[in-house]
Amino acid sequence: MIIEEAKRLKKLPVYVFARLDELKEIERKKGADLIDLGMGNPDVPPPAGVIKKIKEAVDDPEVSRYPLSQGAEDFRTAVSKWVKKQYQLNISPQDEVATLIGSKEGLIHFSFAFVDAGDLVMYVEPAYPAHFNATILSGGTPFAMPTTSKDSYLPDFDKISAEDFKKTKIMVLSYPTNPTAAFAPREIFEKAVSLAKKYNFILLHDFAYAEIYFDGNKPISCLSIPGAKEVCIEFHSLSKTFGMAGWRCGFAVGNESLIKTLRRIKTNLDYGLFRGVQIAAIEALSTPKEYIDNTRATYQKRRDIFVEGINSLGSKVEKPKGSMYVWIPVPRGTDSTKFSIEVLGKTGIVLSPGTAFGALGEGYVRAALVTSDARIKEAIDRLKKANIRFDA
Ligand SMILES: Cc1ncc(COP(=O)(O)O)c(C=O)c1O
Repeated sequence: MIIEEAKRLKKLPVYVFARLDELKEIERKKGADLIDLGMGNPDVPPPAGVIKKIKEAVDDPEVSRYPLSQGAEDFRTAVSKWVKKQYQLNISPQDEVATLIGSKEGLIHFSFAFVDAGDLVMYVEPAYPAHFNATILSGGTPFAMPTTSKDSYLPDFDKISAEDFKKTKIMVLSYPTNPTAAFAPREIFEKAVSLAKKYNFILLHDFAYAEIYFDGNKPISCLSIPGAKEVCIEFHSLSKTFGMAGWRCGFAVGNESLIKTLRRIKTNLDYGLFRGVQIAAIEALSTPKEYIDNTRATYQKRRDIFVEGINSLGSKVEKPKGSMYVWIPVPRGTDSTKFSIEVLGKTGIVLSPGTAFGALGEGYVRAALVTSDARIKEAIDRLKKANIRFDA
């Protein structure tokens, strides 16, 4: 029997990781000791108080019942206090917070709630794949705003026509950026807010790496731009901030009517975030600041070891100001997937090929700094021994 997949699934780009995953499995079966810098899967453990809270929470039978889809009031209040403390935002816990089962879930379902055939969704490429896949799955048209190292991975809005802006339903920005680790200055958000108002589209800021920054370079919340709340929704994640990726916990804040619609579609899709996770997340959001300071210091040290290491192998990458990624040019003329496969075969190190983040990722690989200093040092040693070279 052959059953056709839905057309919208067929439209998704080729899954670049599939071949790499197969090869990883082959290497593993051969007994290779893989150093996996492929997926951005954080290894920093959550705060101890968070683990304690969820253990206590599950003893209460009430926790096993269906939670409220929009999240309990205490969770939304904790979110409101958090965004006030971290980004000086005034967010109503009643009307301006949506509780998410991870921010990816929210991003995709937000698109389902707003995007129709014919709608453009602008996004910055190279991109986190959900930024274009959400549009494809919801039947809209992804519109890449191309960026390169020359423009510091910032879009040039002046190159986009008024016609295209008129067809746009959502513009997605995400700084610090996965995979390029780029930061955006305030002017980018100011321009985007004013374009969203002028052309009547939604400005979506994916702020998954809001708290992973180094050397005091605190990134900007899009909602901190005056008047942004008229057009903007911002997505946050507990995955990287509190090492809670597997717990699936995030939230969106911003424009009341956008939040209302997101909550409405979600009442049709899920029954909300497990109450035990909400209780633990409230604890996470009130964790003393030392925890996040330590997390930043951990990633920053890894960044230093890794960047200094690959720069000793011919690369000239700058130390990223945040995120947990290093975006590295592969040797000129080399295909990034082939390069990742070669590195895996020769060294057991997993790097993500740049094309996983859109065609403009060709020529690069991404390293996720999700292992210890010692393993990162070992990765550099293995690259050296295997005579792997990078280009400036
Ligand atoms: C830019 C970006 N947004 C969202 C997510 C998804 O995060 P979550 O774990 O909250 O679904 C990721 C995960 O890597 C990401 O890189």
